[in-house]
Amino acid sequence: MFNKRIKIKDLISMEPQSQEVTVMGWVRTFRNNQFIALNDGSTNQNLQVVLELGSCSEVLLKRITTSASLKVKGLLIPSLGKGQKVEVKATNIELLGDSDAEVYPLQPKKHSLEFLREIAHLRFRTNTFGSVFRIRHALAFAIHQFFNDKGFLYLHTPIVTSSDAEGAGEMFRVTTLPLEQLPRNEDGSINYKEDFFGKSTNLTVSGQLEGELGATAFGEVYTFGPTFRAENSNTTRHLAEFWMIEPEMAFCDLEDNMNLAEEFIQSIIGYVMQNNREDLEFLAQRLADEEKQLPQDKRSEMGLLEKLEFVLNNQFERITYTEAIDILLQSPAYKKKKFQYDVKWGIDMQSEHERYLVEKHFKKPVIVTNYPKEIKAFYMRQNDDGKTVAAMDILAPGIGEIVGGSQREERLEKLEQRMNEMQIPTEELSWYLDTRRYGTVPHAGFGLGFERLVLFVTGMSNIRDVIAFPRTPKNCEF
Ligand code: 4AD
Ligand code: MG
Repeated sequence: MFNKRIKIKDLISMEPQSQEVTVMGWVRTFRNNQFIALNDGSTNQNLQVVLELGSCSEVLLKRITTSASLKVKGLLIPSLGKGQKVEVKATNIELLGDSDAEVYPLQPKKHSLEFLREIAHLRFRTNTFGSVFRIRHALAFAIHQFFNDKGFLYLHTPIVTSSDAEGAGEMFRVTTLPLEQLPRNEDGSINYKEDFFGKSTNLTVSGQLEGELGATAFGEVYTFGPTFRAENSNTTRHLAEFWMIEPEMAFCDLEDNMNLAEEFIQSIIGYVMQNNREDLEFLAQRLADEEKQLPQDKRSEMGLLEKLEFVLNNQFERITYTEAIDILLQSPAYKKKKFQYDVKWGIDMQSEHERYLVEKHFKKPVIVTNYPKEIKAFYMRQNDDGKTVAAMDILAPGIGEIVGGSQREERLEKLEQRMNEMQIPTEELSWYLDTRRYGTVPHAGFGLGFERLVLFVTGMSNIRDVIAFPRTPKNCEF
């Protein structure tokens, strides 16, 4: 058996009693032909491996370079040096894989995030990305645990679909038709009957509609999967491929929905605060160092840990869209014409407006409800005022919209009427309308953008740095 090893994370908290241990990892640095800093990805802390002078051949010493991989056998002893409690006195070193330090792109120095994005296949080997991706993993785990504990069923909704769940037309087409010679109908339109699925298909923008089918049988379900949007938004908050968590609950109204969303966010943040302390502290320090270079007024009022603690311990603010617009109209920013985009009832709030509400006015996460129906999707429940729908968005400091959700229109006639108004084909979505035909119930749900959550928790500033291989307009490397 090859893999009889101890992970460094476990090793460094063990009592050193000269016991024999085996570790494997990659060399971060090697100094004085004696001290190896070894990392295996389980923690940012490197293990100090000490070679006795003269115990290794010259040939082997030369091969111990940054990023070479090693299998080390040795004795775990208290460290004499500063900076670590224990170290391993090597008794045997096996070089598993060489790495030419001259050409290895990661040097033992600080690299810019932009540079690291270009070598995204290697950036996991840095401390920043080590922390980010361990936290991303922990958040995913906490999400499944949260819903499992509450009795939700994890429903795997399809990736390839023939519907546009959001009705926004931002879809990536899926086809096997020859693009150079498309089969045509008599009227010149493309004949999708000849396509793989016999109809026009695309990558899903949301699993919600299928989620509703599940909720109206199981009561409570959630999806957690990749979603795809062909929106040409080149921002630090948008990806063409992102992961979304979408719970959907029968017997649930807008208020129940908000309560769940708030409890959900607080619970998963609580999980990483408890279980990923070391990585969070590393990222908090990183952010603090980064912000030192900014002018005073551009710096965050709270450190990363303080911010997370604050979100855990304070209720989110809840306001209606109409109240939000009033606040913006009364704001000094509006009066001094500081907003780039105009403010009036009916607008789809821009990120500058959302950030004003959250960062300047309330200074905490805000849930905005009851948006104008014109700017929201067809499935949202129509309010009695005839103008608004039972929508809710959660806006987070530094991020903007992190959650979008609503109570769903459960009344068949109202839903069909809205679909007709918005030119959404009712025949194609007949399966969806069946939920309203056969035992319809009040129900609600929301979607949390996973990468936006990871951004919020890690304090990173670009969404491309919290997903392993970002897909954005004109960029699909790796
Ligand atoms: O507000 P959205 O479009 O809502 C839906 O898709 C609903 N079907 C959700 C539901 O009710 N089940 O998207 C939900 C969230 C947003 O709040 C945002 O956090 C994230 O998904 N999101 C994106 N994240 C990264 N890149 C993009 N291009 C995103 N578009 C939306
Ligand atoms: Mg939205």
